Amino acid sequence: MCGIVGIVGKSNAERIILNGLERLEYRGYDSAGLYVADRTSDHLVKAQGRIKNLEEKVTSEVTGTIGIGHTRWATHGKPSEMNAHPHTSANQALVLVHNGVIENFEELHQEYLSNHQFEGQTDTEIVVHLIEVLKEQDNSTTKAAFKKALSLIRGSYAFALVEKNDPETIYVAKNKSPLLIGLGDGFNVICSDALAMLDQTTHFVEIEDGEMVTVTADAIEIEDPKGNLVYRESYEAQLDLTDIEKGTYPYYMLKEIDDQPTVMRRLIQEYQGESGEVVIDAALKNELLASDRIYIIACGTSNHAGWAAKSILEKLTQIPVEVHLSSEFGYNMPLLSAKPFFLFLSQSGETADSRQVLVTINQLGLPSLTITNVAGSTLSREANHTLLLHAGPEIAVASTKAYTAQIAVMTLLAKAIGDEKAVPEALDFDVFHELSIVASAMEALVDEKAVISQFAEDFLSDTRNAFYIGRGNDYYVSMEAALKLKEISYIQAEGFAAGELKHGTIALIEEGTPVIGVITEEVTGSHTRGNLKEVESRGAHTLVIVSQELAKATDQIILPNVHPLVTSLVAVVPTQLLAYFATLQRGFDVDKPRNLAKSVTVE
Ligand code: G6P
Repeated sequence: MCGIVGIVGKSNAERIILNGLERLEYRGYDSAGLYVADRTSDHLVKAQGRIKNLEEKVTSEVTGTIGIGHTRWATHGKPSEMNAHPHTSANQALVLVHNGVIENFEELHQEYLSNHQFEGQTDTEIVVHLIEVLKEQDNSTTKAAFKKALSLIRGSYAFALVEKNDPETIYVAKNKSPLLIGLGDGFNVICSDALAMLDQTTHFVEIEDGEMVTVTADAIEIEDPKGNLVYRESYEAQLDLTDIEKGTYPYYMLKEIDDQPTVMRRLIQEYQGESGEVVIDAALKNELLASDRIYIIACGTSNHAGWAAKSILEKLTQIPVEVHLSSEFGYNMPLLSAKPFFLFLSQSGETADSRQVLVTINQLGLPSLTITNVAGSTLSREANHTLLLHAGPEIAVASTKAYTAQIAVMTLLAKAIGDEKAVPEALDFDVFHELSIVASAMEALVDEKAVISQFAEDFLSDTRNAFYIGRGNDYYVSMEAALKLKEISYIQAEGFAAGELKHGTIALIEEGTPVIGVITEEVTGSHTRGNLKEVESRGAHTLVIVSQELAKATDQIILPNVHPLVTSLVAVVPTQLLAYFATLQRGFDVDKPRNLAKSVTVE
């Protein structure tokens, strides 16, 4: 949520900032702004809406050798130009961008700034005014005042601060929100995500919570909260610029749906050992083998991936699995088993709701694993173990390839543990072979775009609401299918347990309501078909997504057969495409749906 970039020591800072902000747009896109300066001039430009609106306002005079920029997802104060960052202090001498939420901003306002006038309603504006007040009050340097302000602030933040009179230094600080320093030759950059600055550098330094960094063109100076200097090695980002380009695709989401077979094959390569075993760290395996229950903690699509993997993990490892929403678990923790193991699922590795649970789990000294797409992300660093998704950057806000990669990685993990325990189902399950069949099946499905686009037109393009129904794993896929549809097409969609429909929700079925049945399990398939008949007789417009071996002549979308444990990996693909095409047909922006952000770093 919210993206920050900055650079010091290079001309045309404004161009570099605009490019960086475009790559961070997935973090929020309701307004954006930048500040650039050099020894002779400075410029502050802001715009409501997308980065392109900001770009249009950046005229040729707006140029500098230092600058900071911000793309916003509103928390405090509505999305407007006034509330867009950067914010300035009362005397306009200090300029600040912020990602996060300041919890005690009202107290700070009352205690230090009761006589101040503010332009907007953001918590950030309070902070920049506060730094100025502290500076004047203590007659101190900007750095000392910034440090003092940090000691008074409660909440999450990544800050970048520039002083008008010193256009050679950016001060940054972080707590709970992501921020990296990128190292250049004669210049340095800052960014919320390495993606933003990949065209400038591939060498980055992580900052830890509570640290403050002074960034100039030739040096970075990291200080811990006690003021001690910290030396930290840089790392090389294993990302390629081509991974973040759309290429010939009209939208990232379509590219990412199409990427899925490649991701399955990459996972086979990454996790297959020389003797055909699944390569998983021994310490991780031992902790899981010693556990009596796995608690999966995740939000949104990742939570749905947890549900899809529950039965795979239980069948192959014989360890019971519970799936929880992070935002509920943290403040409403159930009674834990004697030897719990925590599995955090997070594409970004930055989700604040999940992180607050991990902080508690670490305080309790309980073992944890993060499965994420981002090496070095907060959840990865703070859990005991990490497994990577190797999905390549996912840019579209609606998650597709991260969902299937999460299920595949949990399947690999389940196989590794099940083999160690000699669980018969695991010994019989050739995971690499089955995932390669999944990859081919996905390929066949993504080739069906024309047919699926037609179904989207017939069933979804002008409906107000829709249902996906299924049982067991097909129910879990239905939950994800409905989320995909609602988050980008704005159709009110629900994923429902097919058998539960008749206990209340069937009252919503009207003439023409689309109901999409997912059927990949033989034992429950006939019941789901029965439920489809029940809604048809009440006027519903039904569509069936079904495994080939269970298909009837009248069924519309046929899934190639795969192993019964991993049907979710293929059943979800046509639902992703249905959401994509329905959104296009309804005229909305597929990659950047309203009100959402991809990386949600506030609770
Ligand atoms: C946001 C995104 C979702 C994502 C969820 C969890 O809400 O819009 O697509 O599933 O966060 O994100 P994570 O990075 O933890 O998987």
